[in-house]
Amino acid sequence: QKGAYPHYMLKEIDEQPGVMRTLVQEYFDASGNVKIDQDLLDTLGQADRLYIVAAGTSYHAGLVGKELFEKLAGIPTEVHVASEFAYNPPLLSKRPFFIFLTQSGETADSRQVLTQVNEWGYPSLTITNVPNSTLSREASYTLLLHAGPEIAVASTKAYTAQIALEAILVKAYGEAKGIQKVKDFDVASELTKVANGMQELVDEKHNVEQIAKEMLSTTRNAFYIGRGVDYALAQEAALKLKEVSYVQTEGFASGELKHGTIALIEEGTPVVAIITDPKTAAHTRSNAQEVLARGANVLFIASRDLATDNDQIVLPEVDPLLSPLVSVVPTQLLAYYTSIQRGYDVDKPRNLAKSVTVE
Ligand code: M6R
Repeated sequence: QKGAYPHYMLKEIDEQPGVMRTLVQEYFDASGNVKIDQDLLDTLGQADRLYIVAAGTSYHAGLVGKELFEKLAGIPTEVHVASEFAYNPPLLSKRPFFIFLTQSGETADSRQVLTQVNEWGYPSLTITNVPNSTLSREASYTLLLHAGPEIAVASTKAYTAQIALEAILVKAYGEAKGIQKVKDFDVASELTKVANGMQELVDEKHNVEQIAKEMLSTTRNAFYIGRGVDYALAQEAALKLKEVSYVQTEGFASGELKHGTIALIEEGTPVVAIITDPKTAAHTRSNAQEVLARGANVLFIASRDLATDNDQIVLPEVDPLLSPLVSVVPTQLLAYYTSIQRGYDVDKPRNLAKSVTVE
């Protein structure tokens, strides 16, 4: 039930702080230890490479997962679009472990890969929101997102739940392996910080509504740019905007603009720059200057510690590796309000189904 909310998408955006808290409750005991099945951790611990397989928004959550697994736990991780993997599988390592990210647990493209993985006899984990879903039943292990039903076609709280649960899994994996960097990373308190930060952002949604009106309500195209996890976020932000508002939107690695895409920038083109990583903040700002100089209408979304006085959206500070959990919120709201302002059915965009059960 959407209760007092006009649409499920807005309700589900608002529910995200609560989902973060639920995940902390579900996966940590009173003394702060992660509660994840030992058998799963033993099997995962034997892998020499992780293969994350997913589609759409779940694929974008996988891109952030790769950063978490590699940067914190040092395990090589590949992320694959399920429909590509199905016909063009990569060369596999000796001891691969597969992670299927899927809100619904029913996506046909991902199921097809899991069937193949089972034929090969490799271990697998499904991270899903739906207990007993097909991908959950067919994988060796399941972890649940506990996000509550996601009704709007555009995925919001499942994306943030997937990233949070990936972080929790990295924590369990790294603790079991005695990896110092992971031991020092207090995921439970980081996720609580994230929940508070998300709350601040949803409380300021009217600011984003106004920005959407001025910047996106009549545009034909838009760009999101960033580097590292901000690039991963840019891709998700672009998908969200295009699927509910039908604005042609692309997410770009900001350094790639000058290799072609900058030709599309003209007077008034909306460009959203995401800046949450101290390593690359100056570089992304200089790319933003290049599009500003060509007349682009640039919206800066930056973490508080990296923000300047001119940045329109300032994000609460969280660990840079978890920043997509907060930076995604204003981009979800931008997509939502743009769709509403254009008079579209935001919960049921044209041509799309909630779960894609055909190949
Ligand atoms: O249920 P799944 O996570 O497997 O679904 C994957 C995609 O179909 C899904 O994320 C889709 O891209 C959403 N409409 C995006 O908002």
